[in-house]
Formats: sequence, structure tokens, C-alpha cells
Amino acid sequence: MLPIDDTGRLGGIRINPSILAADFVNMQAELARIASADFVHVDVMDNHFVPNLTFGPQMVERIQATSPVPLDVHLMIADPDRWAPEYAELGAASVTFHLEAATEPVALARRLRAIGSRAGVAVKPATAIEGLFDLLDDFDQILVMTVEPGFGGQSFMPETMPKLRRLAYEARRRGSSVWLQVDGGIGESTIAQAAEAGADTFVAGSAVFGASDPGNAIAALRATAAQHHTH
Ligand code: DX5
Ligand code: ZN
Repeated sequence: MLPIDDTGRLGGIRINPSILAADFVNMQAELARIASADFVHVDVMDNHFVPNLTFGPQMVERIQATSPVPLDVHLMIADPDRWAPEYAELGAASVTFHLEAATEPVALARRLRAIGSRAGVAVKPATAIEGLFDLLDDFDQILVMTVEPGFGGQSFMPETMPKLRRLAYEARRRGSSVWLQVDGGIGESTIAQAAEAGADTFVAGSAVFGASDPGNAIAALRATAAQHHTH
């Protein structure tokens, strides 16, 4: 059993609700409903890297000012080399950009860390993971997308699990403390397989904000993940 800290959170498991599934005109109230989460996952989309558009730094700054939990920013944007540092500068606890979109991923991760944010890199379902194995120390978290990025409410893709398993194996073998995150279609019926494959950080949009009590949904996801966690 994993240790429980004084906030009731389970050590080693993180549940990050995605506000993409929240009511955008009631953002402050929506954020208050997920105060028991570890981070709030903030999806930035530019209608270029993905075929959908959300918001930019101005909105993220207001979320940062209002959120009871730290921000986990997921940038689904082109040219993160140009834009990602701005999100670190406004105080996001972690900033994750896509490997497919970055020109110099390691240099960018170093800049994010220098500003004071955790540095994350994300891979789409069809992107190979092996290229990251020698770069694990350059990142604080690696996001294995379990749907095609762009939209909430899609079905979890189990075919991404072998990739996550290989990554978890390499991270363990190399003694890395990198967090392994999954995002897309995570809910009560899918979180166990992601935890078994080695994920420790779970993004869930519809499964949390679609629940009548988001706090209960977070607790249930946390318990299931802890039960199946393999680290
Ligand atoms: C998808 C986003 C996800 C999305 C997850 O591109 O990156 O964070 O909000 O939503 P659910 O949990 O509903 O699949
Ligand atoms: Zn996301």
C-alpha cells in the first residue's frame, strides 16, 4: 500500500482533472470542485497542431490565480519552442509540450526548468517512445497520449499500453524518477490498465467533471490506480 500524506493524497499517484470538460463560464466554481486533485490539467490548443482551439496565456493566468491546486499545462500547439516558456513564467507548476511539434526538445525543457516549472514532453499514440529513453533525465514527466489529442470524451486506446510499458521498464531500469502520465479516455474502467502498465499520473476530463461529485470521482480513481500501480 502506498503512503497517504496529510492531505489524504496517496503518495506516488496523481489525479489531474482536465478542465477541458469543465463549464468555461463557471471556471472558478469548477476549480473549487476539484480541490482534492493533485494538479489541474489545462489543455491549450491552437487549431494548428490539433484541429481544435481552446485558449492561451491570458486565460491560463486567470486559472493560475484562481485554482486551489497547481497547474499542469498541456500544450497542443505548434512551435512550443517559441510559446512554452510564457506558461512557465506565469507560474504553471508543469508545462508539457509535444515532441512532434518541438524543434529542440531538450533545450526547451532546460529553459522551462530554469524558469522554475517541471518540464514535460508528450507523444501522440503513433509516435515512437524509444527516442526519449536516453533523455529521461531531461524531463520531469512524460505524457503518453491514450487518445489522439484534440478533444475530450474520446475512447481510451489500449494499443498505447505496450509503449507505456516499455517506457516504464526503461525508467525503472535507469533509476529515473520521471513521472509517467496518461491522458485521454481515463476513467473507472480504464485507469487500472494504465496503472498496471506503469502510469503514475492520470489526466481525466469527463470522468471527473461529468460526475455528480467530482471529489468522489477523484477519490475512486485514486484508489483504483493505487491498487493496480506497479512501480
Ligand atoms: C485531449 C486532451 C485531454 C482531454 C481528456 O486532447 O489532451 O486532456 O481533456 O479528456 P477525457 O478524459 O474526457 O478523455
Ligand atoms: Zn491534455
